[in-house]
Amino acid sequence: GKNSKPLFIRKANQLVTLKGSSDAPLTREKMNELSIIEEGSVWVEDGKIAAVGPDEELIEKYGEKLEEAHVVDATGRLVTPGLVDPHTHLVFAGSRENEFNMRLNGASYMEIMNAGGGIHSTTRSTREASPEVLYKESFGRLDKFLLHGVTAMEAKSGYGLDLENELKQLYTAKELNNDHPIDIVLTFMGAHAIPMNFKENPDEFVDLVVSEMIPKVAELGLAEFNDVFCEKGVFTPEQSEKILEAGKKFGLLPKIHADEIEPYKGAEVAAKVGAVSADHLLKVSDAGMEAMAEAGVVGVLLPGTAFFLMAEFANGRKMIDAGVPVALSTDRNPGSSPTESLPLIMQLGCLNMGMTPAEVLTAATINAAHAIKRGNEIGSIEVGKKGDFVIWDAPNYSYIQYHYGVNLIGSVIKDGKVVVE
Ligand code: NIG
Ligand code: FE
Repeated sequence: GKNSKPLFIRKANQLVTLKGSSDAPLTREKMNELSIIEEGSVWVEDGKIAAVGPDEELIEKYGEKLEEAHVVDATGRLVTPGLVDPHTHLVFAGSRENEFNMRLNGASYMEIMNAGGGIHSTTRSTREASPEVLYKESFGRLDKFLLHGVTAMEAKSGYGLDLENELKQLYTAKELNNDHPIDIVLTFMGAHAIPMNFKENPDEFVDLVVSEMIPKVAELGLAEFNDVFCEKGVFTPEQSEKILEAGKKFGLLPKIHADEIEPYKGAEVAAKVGAVSADHLLKVSDAGMEAMAEAGVVGVLLPGTAFFLMAEFANGRKMIDAGVPVALSTDRNPGSSPTESLPLIMQLGCLNMGMTPAEVLTAATINAAHAIKRGNEIGSIEVGKKGDFVIWDAPNYSYIQYHYGVNLIGSVIKDGKVVVE
């Protein structure tokens, strides 16, 4: 921030800038470009990027001010924008390792949920938790995200499923955004499951979301986005459309959990309502993919869920080739993806979804920023953007996909300050 020393990152072996990507998410071969500067340096002032270029150029410009800067030597290392995680269920209480064991013994995710476990189980523990407990558990997760290079993320409600507890989650996320270095963008997801007491009349719950919860959340300014779990046995495409359209009337931008477990035309709904993103997409139809490409809906892929639920991965390769701008995310949640490691998700993108090392890096930085409407602020290393960076213990961007399963984050810099050393 203001009054702090300028930061000077010097001589990165590869400085991945992703320049020229602020206006719209990258598609097709543009996802492979990266715009790399060798022996690259960055000057950060008042938390914002002031100059980017080859070291000799920056030394010419700032040589005289070198004394007053905090200098970070990145010789031999890879420097990228801070990672952006555009889909998380950050705020909840408890954990579900019991269900993990049930699944290892053959039970399915949906069976567990329909029997009152799954999202319902986390809803019970989240309702019971005090705001202090929710805050503390979520803060611990944020620290783990930061250690894995994430400097901005989205966080959804959806484990309250009633107005009081949905607001409790959103207030907690807002407080965390103020207190923790990671920037957090808020999404209302009252339509995450049909609560147990509405099982016989789901439309009544839809009405509650539409006419009570959405207006209140918007009035309180507690969310930017509105999300719904469009899935067989949860919300139908028709109900999903209704909920997303209702949000739009109150200024909440639509997002959707689409085509995760069964093909259900969620991607088509996303295109129709003009969603910012459609997420999951393991079972997306060809028509759905084309509709998304046409409408410019970002496809947020969450391969952690396929890995952890032992399901078939989304076809990232096909989606990119169809012109869908693809982003990657952890989907951090206690049921289908209990991990804060976005780098692991990127590795799954390469190894299980046919994406290149360059594409997964684009997907976890600038395209992820666009998936939360922050493409102008973060996600690339360009003058005027936030000084958010990862310095990797790696010489180049392919190496971080190749040396898998361990944490290769060297330092993390947020708003021009070193927050992980
Ligand atoms: O994105 N699919 C729906 N919601 C989450 C899982 C939530 C949970 O199991 O607690 C997801 O995978
Ligand atoms: Fe999710």
